[in-house]
Amino acid sequence: MLQVEDVTVRFGEKVALDEVALEVARGEVLAVLGPSGSGKSTLLRVICGLQQPDDGCVLIDSEDITSSPPHRRGIGLVFQDHALFQHKDVAGNVGFGPRMRGDAPSGVARRVGELLDLVGLAGFEHRSVATLSGGEQQRVALARALAPEPRVLLLDEPLGSLDRRLRDRLLVDLGVLFAELDVTAIYVTHDQAEAFALGDRVAIMRAGQVVQHGTADELWAHPGDEDTARFLGLDNVRDGTVIRPEAITARRVEAGNPGDGVVERARRHGPTVHLTVRLDDGTLLDAAVTSLEHPATGERVSLEIDPEGVVRL
Ligand SMILES: Nc1ncnc2c1ncn2[C@@H]1O[C@H](COP(=O)(O)OP(=O)(O)O)[C@@H](O)[C@H]1O
Ligand SMILES: [Mg+2]
Repeated sequence: MLQVEDVTVRFGEKVALDEVALEVARGEVLAVLGPSGSGKSTLLRVICGLQQPDDGCVLIDSEDITSSPPHRRGIGLVFQDHALFQHKDVAGNVGFGPRMRGDAPSGVARRVGELLDLVGLAGFEHRSVATLSGGEQQRVALARALAPEPRVLLLDEPLGSLDRRLRDRLLVDLGVLFAELDVTAIYVTHDQAEAFALGDRVAIMRAGQVVQHGTADELWAHPGDEDTARFLGLDNVRDGTVIRPEAITARRVEAGNPGDGVVERARRHGPTVHLTVRLDDGTLLDAAVTSLEHPATGERVSLEIDPEGVVRL
């Protein structure tokens, strides 16, 4: 459906994209995950036509669109700073695309109503954009991007400016919406949880390159290198191996058992508790436990490691 072939973009000496290649199938959501400055936004700008690549090409349905103007590409965009038309009301924003392509006013109104329903803002047609909350503005931005029925939707850190709770809720809503509409999309984020939640596949970018791609399970099971492992939140990296935290069982030591270390921190993240254990050799190891009966800070523990959870890099 969408193919990016060996795209390179240079800004002077700086190589922002270095022979990036990726594919998105019809109806698939590809999450692009990478730290700030890794080239994610530049990649989206190339795909939507706001940035001409120095090398390589972009194809949609096998048609080379590398030199097509942005408005001819059939691509919808949602950015972090929603960039709505502040002087138009909600209907004016959402109806912009359909109006531009020449839909009759009654058709535009119908489409606006459908889209507002879809993003949970039914009845918001005549609200002024300035009176909306951040989350509502982002829903309007999404509705506006979807209104002209784009072939591909590009989202650049769309939830980046929202608070955690709102972000979690919109994340769920987006997942449902993407599945329902069968959208083909690229979702750019620096947040591993967002990438795993929304991406059918995840491509990891670093310094202008796609260094690895796969499903969330594949990446979690076989991170390609130490940087990727740490970026995914796998911090137990030692001697060229990663130990997945869920493969470590930590038990309070019984009398007579020397144990392996002391729990330095125990923090709950939703259903799991992350234990940071200071081993007797001074190094740290993270364990994830789901039991309510978990060892507490300061307690001495013995560790058991399931060999299935030890990955050689
Ligand atoms: N218009 C530009 N001029 C010069 N350098 C740029 C420009 N746009 C992006 N860059 C540089 O390219 C690199 C990738 O940027 P960007 O694609 O915005 O990364 P990300 O979205 O992953 O944070 C960064 O080093 C950035 O400073
Ligand atoms: Mg960016």
